[in-house]
Parts: sequence; structure tokens; C-alpha cells
Amino acid sequence: MNYFTTTSAASRRAVDCVIVGIYDRGRMSSGAADIDTASKGSLKKHLKNGDISAQLGRCTVLTDVAGVKAARVAAVGLGKYSEFSSVNYRRALDAALQSISGSKSRQVLNTLTLEDVKGASSYYLARFTAQAVGDAMYQFTAMKSGRKAAQMPLKKVGMAIAKRGDVGNLPANVCTPSYLARTAQKLSREHSNVTTRVLSEAEMKRLGMHSLLSVTAGTTEPAKLIVMQYKGKPGTKPVVLVGKGVTFDTGGISLKPPPTMDEMKFDMCGAAGVIGTMAAVAKLKLPINLNVVVPAVENLPSGTATRPGDIVKSMSGQTIEILNTDAEGRLILCDALTYSKRFKPDTIIDVATLTGACVIALGHHRTAVMSKHDKLSADIISAGISAEDRGWPMPLGDEWAVELKSNFADMANVGGRPGGTITAGCFLSKFTEGLNWAHLDIAGTAWKSGKLKGATGRPVPMLTEYLLGRCGALP
Ligand code: BES
Ligand code: MN
Ligand code: ZN
Repeated sequence: MNYFTTTSAASRRAVDCVIVGIYDRGRMSSGAADIDTASKGSLKKHLKNGDISAQLGRCTVLTDVAGVKAARVAAVGLGKYSEFSSVNYRRALDAALQSISGSKSRQVLNTLTLEDVKGASSYYLARFTAQAVGDAMYQFTAMKSGRKAAQMPLKKVGMAIAKRGDVGNLPANVCTPSYLARTAQKLSREHSNVTTRVLSEAEMKRLGMHSLLSVTAGTTEPAKLIVMQYKGKPGTKPVVLVGKGVTFDTGGISLKPPPTMDEMKFDMCGAAGVIGTMAAVAKLKLPINLNVVVPAVENLPSGTATRPGDIVKSMSGQTIEILNTDAEGRLILCDALTYSKRFKPDTIIDVATLTGACVIALGHHRTAVMSKHDKLSADIISAGISAEDRGWPMPLGDEWAVELKSNFADMANVGGRPGGTITAGCFLSKFTEGLNWAHLDIAGTAWKSGKLKGATGRPVPMLTEYLLGRCGALP
């Protein structure tokens, strides 16, 4: 059997049969609502005529539904909306597959996976779908001689999934810090177990985040600190993921050269990666506590921008001489890391498109993994191997940290060119004393350039795999 997922609308997929559901009192499943709109109310009409029923497990197969690309629509009763549990999901799906078993349907799209099934995560919906299909196809023929009954011709089964956000590829005039904040808020509206708080510049100022605020000094676009919280295991210390959210990085006064500067719209891929991981964790309903912290800013030059040589005080109290305004990622991350200490993290991982040097070192194939905690580093790297989203270890150490010495402040924000990825990691390590911390530099892996230009979604697979592993949820 071939399984696939699709974000296309139920009415727009040219399969042999699409399965939709009807709840009590005529409430439609989201797939049914789409079919009904596309067919100008045909489902409602059938419901009124009594041709289709909301009774759990009653299924009617309709053909030639106008405005719908699928050859058949299997409308199955789901019973009471408030009682739609995994048991009822199985009963409805079993009935729908039973009803179409006699038809010539080779390709079927199940849209019941879009429903809010009480107590079931998307993992279980996918699994129950495969189990239901396996049961529907099963025939015991070993002891039969002569002609065997025809098998159900099912070859491909699709599972409808909600349309994904794609903030990585959005241009910087659309995907602003406020837009990122709204994306996070939308996620918490869709998942009751996720809450989102957005801190304004005034609040960040009160917290003493002057390093972060120095990066946003040149733009009129307001900076945001996005703080998300998922509770899947009350009473345990959380994992905290911190993602660099620079929605556009011109370099500031230390301006970048024009060629490929457009690609600096991808400088928020760390933020997209941690928010994306939060979405996966919430959908999988993992038994874990997870916090996501995203410092979101735009780095522009202007008359109010931070100058090379300016000195700022970070939230940690340490002062920083900003020698290069293009090394802005570490300036926002250090305050976000200090802020994250309030969650008393069991583990904290930051994710950032931090250094061009990382692209030189590892190319586009491996995310750089830096940690002084060998177990954490090994766990992240092994999760990357399992998820086909690989990382590679890079060192952290005092040998590199000396590069950051400043004559005028506690530290400078840049070292020399040698080992640029490592000195950036060393800078962050000054803000994570005593924490079980790892730093991921995704500068080479977060997007593709040239003809294939676009965000890759990395390192969501690696991080999700790491968190699944922590829950003991992997074989
Ligand atoms: N966002 C860039 C890093 C980057 C550059 C990622 C090219 C992917 C491709 C970061 O803010 C930056 O500009 N880093 C500087 C640091 C330097 C000034 C120490 C860099 O790598 O050049
Ligand atoms: Mn930069
Ligand atoms: Zn940057």
C-alpha cells in the first residue's frame, strides 16, 4: 500500500474516492464542508433528503458530485461532535472503507484526519488509518482451493493534513517580527495546549535587553520577543528552544555587499525551525514540557542604527563592544538565552543562521552542533542521523574564546575570521553558564541557493526526532 499526505482541498484532488464525515445535527467535517461548498450545497441537500446520515458508521457513496474532482464521495456518519474519539474514528473509517470495497476505487483520500479526534494525536490518526486499511484489505485465503474472491483494488491512500505555514520563504516586507509573532499566536489558537506571549520593545527595555535592542535600533519595524509554552508533562523541567528571528539582515552599518543579500530574508529560519518544532510537538501531543523563545528583529542601517564601537549592556549584566553590526544574531540570542533561564530548563538548544563561516566549513549538508555537554551533542547528532537531517560536531573552548577580548567592554561581538563559527558559539557560551546547552548553526542547511532557492525546513526533523527520543517514543 502506498500512503501519502496532502494539503490540497478535498474537492480539488482527482482521486477515485474521497472520504468525508457528517456529525450529529448536520455539522460537517472540514473535508465535508469543502465538498459541500464546491458542490453548491449538495451534501446539505442529501442530508435533508435523508440520503446521508450522521449516525456513527452509516456511510453513503455519492457519485458525480458536481464541482468535485473525485469520482466518488463517501459520506460517513461520525455521531456526536463532542464524542468523536479514536474509537469512533476507527468505526467511521472502517465503515467508509467497507462501503467502497465493492467499487473500483484504487486511490482514496481520507479527510477524517483533519478532525479534532479526542485523545488522539496525528501520529495515532496515521496509524489508525493504516490499521483500518490493513483490516479492510485482509482476506484469509490460504485454505481455499479454486477461484479466490477478488481483492479490494485499493493501491494508494491519502491522508489530508492542514495547510502548512511557510514563513521561511516569505519576503521580509511580509514576514516582519510582528508577522512571526502572529504566526506563533495562531498556532496557540489552533492548539489548546500551547500558549504564546509576545513581549514589546518597552517590556524588553525594562528587562534590560539592550544587546537585543541595539540590533533593532535602525529600523522602524518593532522588535518582538515571542515566548511559547507547551505543557505535555506537568511537574517536569522543560526543554527550551531558542531561534534566531532576524527577518532581514542587511548587516546594519557594517553593510553586506549586494550580491545575494536577498537571501538574508532567510535569516529567521532558526525562528521558523523552533516554531515548526513546537507545531510538530503539539500535533503529536508529546509527553514533554517545551518552551520556545524567539527574539525577532530586523537589522537595518539608518541614522538611528547602532555604530561599530558602540557598547551595550546585555540582560546578563555583561557589556559588549559591537565591533561589527553584522554579527547581530549573537546579540539577540544572548539576551534571549538569559531570559530563558527563568524556565529552569532541563536542556536548552539555540538554533541560528549564525555565521557564513559555517557554510565554508560544512557546506550545505550538515548543521554545526556545538556543546560542552557530550551526551547532549551525541543525542542531537544521532537524532539527525535517524531523521536524515544531519549535524556535525564542532568544538567550543577557551582557545577560541580569547578572540573575543575587548579593550573597552567585557567582550567584543566578533573575533577574527579564523574559526568564525566557533567564536560565535563561544560568545553564546558566556550567557549559558551552568545550563545543559547546545548551539546549532544552520547557516548552510536552512535554505538552498541558486535555481533551487528556498527554505528547507531544517532542522525541524532533527529537533523533533531528538524530542521524540527523549520521550522514549522511538523504536
Ligand atoms: N546571517 C548572517 C550569517 C550568514 C551569512 C548565514 C551568509 C548564511 C549565509 C550573520 O548575521 C552574519 O552576518 N554573520 C557574519 C559574522 C561576522 C561579521 C563575524 C558573517 O558570517 O559574515
Ligand atoms: Mn549579520
Ligand atoms: Zn544574521
